[in-house]
Amino acid sequence: MPIPPEQADQFRADSRARWEGAAAGWGAARESFQRDASPVSYRMIDAIRAQPGHTVLELAAGPGDTGFLAAELIRPGGTLICTDTAEAMLDVARARAAELRLDNVEFVLMDAEWIDRGAASLDAILCRWGVMLLADPESALREARRTLRPGGRIAIATWAAPDRNPWSMGRLLVRLGVLPAAPDDVPGPFALADPDALAELLWGVGFDDVEVEAVDFSFTAPDTEAWWQQQLHCSPSLRGATSGLSPAAHYELRDAVDAELAQFTAGDGSISIPARALVAAAGA
Ligand SMILES: C[S@@+](CC[C@H](N)C(=O)[O-])C[C@H]1O[C@@H](n2cnc3c(N)ncnc32)[C@H](O)[C@@H]1O
Repeated sequence: MPIPPEQADQFRADSRARWEGAAAGWGAARESFQRDASPVSYRMIDAIRAQPGHTVLELAAGPGDTGFLAAELIRPGGTLICTDTAEAMLDVARARAAELRLDNVEFVLMDAEWIDRGAASLDAILCRWGVMLLADPESALREARRTLRPGGRIAIATWAAPDRNPWSMGRLLVRLGVLPAAPDDVPGPFALADPDALAELLWGVGFDDVEVEAVDFSFTAPDTEAWWQQQLHCSPSLRGATSGLSPAAHYELRDAVDAELAQFTAGDGSISIPARALVAAAGA
């Protein structure tokens, strides 16, 4: 369900500010996050059928790792346009591209709902874990359809339902009263968790050949404290929800998190938590 139009601009501004604040955390977590989440990136890259010379645009790119896989494949002659609404996220992506010595990447500050490119100008679009966070996901996908050339490809990733993603602390926070319960379909990690609804959204804006596939992997961390700190630094909603807690309430929450994670904790204290993404691929 999109955010009502009269609230959408405020929603976008608040969201952008929160992601600017989370960018340093994403930069610090980038390596381990991508090591765990790379099966999703690889599935998306397969789906767009990248070729030398292609122009590929990544929306809501964050640290940029999925698009950077495409950047390797479209050389020579191809360009990756790495975009995000948060300038600080683009800085993280720029630093990573420099480490990888990629010289075919443009970095553009761009809201995913308004793709600032001409009609039929792109060969492929990628968006991992971005579309479901938007005020109006359908607008973004309509824009994607407009800017892809005939035969161009899109691959997007969302999260499957929360019970398949116990890494997310959202339900625990609601249970503890730290976060208010929200309807499933307001913008957030699980807003496009229904594979049929996700496929319908793509068909509805004019894509063909729509396929949605579940991709399972695990998030890992050396111990629960490392995992919790990573969550605190990377999740804008968790940061917001916990920032006003008293020390006592914070300790209580940490105990509850440890109890929740016990089932995923090995004898040496390391954790491995299941995750399930949905990868939707389609042709223009
Ligand atoms: C969950 S992170 C995913 C980052 C990256 N795609 C990945 O998979 O590692 C969500 C990203 O979406 C970006 N974002 C949020 N709202 C956006 C919008 N309206 N337009 C473009 N990017 C947005 C955030 O700045 C953040 O980088």
